Formats: sequence, structure tokens, C-alpha cells
Amino acid sequence: MNKDVVIIRGESVADVAAALAGESEIFIVHDVNVAATAASVAVALPAVKAVIGIETSEERKTMETAVELCERLLEADASRRALVLAIGGGITTDIAGFSASMYKRGIRYANIPTTLLAQVDAAIGGKTGVNLHGYKNMLGAFHMPEFTFLAPDALAGLPAKEVRCGLAEMLKTFLIGDADAYAAAISLLSGTKTLSGLRDFAVRAAEIKAEIVRRDPLEHGERAVLNLGHTFGHAIEHCSGGKIAHGEAVGKGIILAAKLSESLGLAEKGLAARLKADFEGAGLDVECPFGIKELAAAMKKDKKDGKFVLLRGIGKPVVMEVSGDDLCKCTK
Ligand SMILES: NC(=O)c1ccc[n+]([C@@H]2O[C@H](COP(=O)([O-])OP(=O)(O)OC[C@H]3O[C@@H](n4cnc5c(N)ncnc54)[C@H](O)[C@@H]3O)[C@@H](O)[C@H]2O)c1
Ligand SMILES: [Zn+2]
Repeated sequence: MNKDVVIIRGESVADVAAALAGESEIFIVHDVNVAATAASVAVALPAVKAVIGIETSEERKTMETAVELCERLLEADASRRALVLAIGGGITTDIAGFSASMYKRGIRYANIPTTLLAQVDAAIGGKTGVNLHGYKNMLGAFHMPEFTFLAPDALAGLPAKEVRCGLAEMLKTFLIGDADAYAAAISLLSGTKTLSGLRDFAVRAAEIKAEIVRRDPLEHGERAVLNLGHTFGHAIEHCSGGKIAHGEAVGKGIILAAKLSESLGLAEKGLAARLKADFEGAGLDVECPFGIKELAAAMKKDKKDGKFVLLRGIGKPVVMEVSGDDLCKCTK
């Protein structure tokens, strides 16, 4: 995967036309919940050959859906020169990217993310895939998009809960990669929480992820820092039976990771309390309803090894193995 990670900032989704000027066959694949956005992109692109809506949910994020999408590309005569333009949240960009990686042994694709979470995370970096028997992202491929196009109007209509999920991932990125942006974002979020005010921060978070992926595209090392809060977060998602959404769980997981960092003597005392106050000030509920024993049992079943992303401080992540005994210390 030697393609660069490209982030393009636009004023409006229709501006994507400039980035696709040389294309002859574009196939739009969109979440049915953002059909209006897809329609306004389609009218701006003369090379669009088909507009394909898909229903998205974790249950439908499967190989069957990816194959169905390939079948629809075939029916619409997509050639090896075709470009898939994915418009939607992370589920859409993961499925569309994965289908593009398989169709005719791989065709190009590009993303217009329509959730904050996908703008700062899912639609960047070339990890694509689907779930298998309820296990997340078990089938997939590294397939880098031509670009990820960030436009503010793509987020129109995004429900408040989805905004909160995206905020948690955005703050995560600043905690691992930019202490100044973290402080500035927290200051902004303690007052206004409008999406338009957040625009520069979303672009900055996307760029930080792009920089990390450029250095470690296949996650042999550094890219793992993007999993801050995720080992706890996946366990929280699991224990809640899916009631706590991924981004919400990551917010709670970050606070637990900060507590663990303190209890291991990596971070100064007070880090977890500070982050908790910051996140709560930003409107995120970071209380974890589960005990550490319950979370530890869920973590054992997670496909990830016993590694945690911890913090020496804001902007200073470290990836470490943590024993079961040390893990239990973080609740004390
Ligand atoms: N590939 C990666 O590197 C990566 C990274 C992080 C997450 N992910 C994946 O991303 C997925 C989560 O992404 P997500 O949170 O964007 O979920 P999503 O795609 O399910 O979108 C969340 C919800 O918002 C709706 N929606 C999307 N845009 C909207 C808009 N503008 N207005 C109104 N509603 C809108 C969707 O229909 C959906 O109901 C997970 O499956 C996760 O595994 C992938
Ligand atoms: Zn995540």
C-alpha cells in the first residue's frame, strides 16, 4: 500500500468535482440516510454512471452486503477504470472500500465521510472491512482511498449522539498527537458545541491520523496509538450489549486508560481527573457502568493482544503490555 494518504478540505460536498475532473466512470455508493447529499454530489459529476444506496448497520456490515455491492457494480458495467465514491459514515466507507478492494482485483475509491467519526477516523487510512459472525472487522483489506474529502455540509442532519461519538475520537487523536489542539478544542467545547465551530479541529484531527498512517500504513507499530481508549472501549461496548455506542465507549475507555497510566506511575496524579472534567465539559458522559473484573473478562475475548495504549501525559502516548494484576489497580 504505497499510495499517499490524501485529505482534501472543501467548502461544500459538490466541490469534490474538482478532485474528480479526470474521471470517466464514477459509481456513487451512499448510505440511504444521506441520499440528499449523494444527489447533490451526483449532479455535480458528469461521469457518474450509477448511484447505489445501501442500508447500513453493524448487522448488515457483512461479506454478503459487500458481495451484493460488487454485483451491483457488475450489473452497472463498472470496468477496471471505475472509481467508487463512498458517501456516508464509517460503515459505508468500510463496506464500499472493501468491495472496491475485491472488485476485478481492486478498483479505486474515494470517501466523502458524513459523520464526524468518519471524518476524523474511519474514512482515513485504508483499513476496510466487514464483520464476521458478529465479530467486528474480521474480514478486510488495506486499500487506500484516492482521497478523503472533508466538507462541512456533509455533516448536515447528524444526530447529537453521533456528534458526541465523533468528538470522543477527535479528542483521542489530539491526546495522542497534539497537546495544543487538545487544549484549544476543550476550550471551544466548554462553550459552543456547533459543528461549524469544530470544522478546523476535525480537519486537524484528520491530518494527525493521516501523518500517523503515512509513517506506519500497515500497523506494524506506531499506528496502534490510534487505539487509545479502545481496549477498554471494546470491552465496555461488549458488556453493554451494544447499547453504548463505539465513540461513547471510547470516551469512557480513555478515562480508564488515564487512570491505569497513573496507577502504573507513567502519568502524573490528576491526569484522569483532568481529562474527565474536560470530557464532561465537552458534553460527554464518561462514567463507566462496569467494574474492572467484568471489563477484564470481556477483554480476554477481544482479538487484540494484552497491549494497552497509555499516556505519559497529554500528547505523549505509549503502547504497553499490562498484566491482569496491574489492570485491577486502576480502579483503586
Ligand atoms: N476503517 C477504519 O479505520 C475505521 C476506524 C474507525 C471506525 N470504523 C468503523 O466505522 C463504523 C462507525 O462509523 P460511524 O460512526 O460513522 O457509523 P455509521 O456509518 O453507522 O453512521 C452512524 C449513523 O449515522 C447515520 N448518518 C451518517 N451520516 C449522517 C448524516 N450526515 N446525517 C444523519 N445521519 C447520518 C448513519 O445512517 C448511521 O445510522 C464502525 O463500523 C467501525 O468499525 C472504521
Ligand atoms: Zn474508534
